[in-house]
Amino acid sequence: MWDYTDKVKEHFFNPRNVGVIENPDGVGEVGSLACGDALKLTFKLDRSGRIVEAKFKTFGCASAIATSSVLTEMIKGMTIDEASQVTNKDIAVYLGGLPEQKMHCSVMGREALEAAIENYRTGGKKKHELEGKVVCNCFGVTESEIERVIKENNLTTVEEVTNYCKAGGGCGGCKGEIEKIIEKVQSGKIKEIPVSVPRKPGKLTNIQKIQLIQQTINEQIRPALRAHGGNIELIDVEGNKVIVAFRGMCAQCKLAEFTMKDVVEAKLREFVTEELFVEEETDSANQPHNHRG
Ligand code: FES
Repeated sequence: MWDYTDKVKEHFFNPRNVGVIENPDGVGEVGSLACGDALKLTFKLDRSGRIVEAKFKTFGCASAIATSSVLTEMIKGMTIDEASQVTNKDIAVYLGGLPEQKMHCSVMGREALEAAIENYRTGGKKKHELEGKVVCNCFGVTESEIERVIKENNLTTVEEVTNYCKAGGGCGGCKGEIEKIIEKVQSGKIKEIPVSVPRKPGKLTNIQKIQLIQQTINEQIRPALRAHGGNIELIDVEGNKVIVAFRGMCAQCKLAEFTMKDVVEAKLREFVTEELFVEEETDSANQPHNHRG
């Protein structure tokens, strides 16, 4: 019996947004019944380009159902660009974690979302196809997909790779090749040059300040918000005033005021300059602002 979190169980017993949207703006289908898991994700956009509705149909285990269910909740309210940044880690964190052996369900969710976005961006013309050389024939997993799960989740063993994308979990004939890919990715990572923007330098030009604000949002703030299904967008910088907009779950959250001061402003002051103060975008007719009312 798997050790599932309460959130996984909740979404398994009461899955949200089950079904298929008629005339969707994006459709993504990944996996196959032969491999044991399959997921179809459809979404619709509103006039401002935000995902207003998302539905799923899946064939799989409790984790596949829970993962698909939270994914449809997470992406509601997001723009296409915001949704394209959702990672399998975000999905797993949102669920309070998944058993290691079930992490491939979170990867399948991210793949279905990417396939649906690709389908939308190509005007419904393109169906998701495997890219690159197939390494694992049993599960049809390509080299680029294996590289990606290794990089994004910092995997170091074949067993972990199997947990995240199933490659290696059948006949085992591809394990040697997976080992080589792990070695290649991990040794390449050591040589990666760290980002060179300085932290809290003495004097910043306007351009440096904006770059540093954007970098702090990307690296320090957004991951924390995305873990709870939210997101944040930098709208403008006027002197020391930083104007941002909350997206996703954050846009509806009663604690947004707190998040603004104690997370966003505090981080920007820590990593950029103590003179900064943050305000929420006021002209956002499309965004709900329940926390203001
Ligand atoms: S080819 Fe990968 S497990 Fe069989």
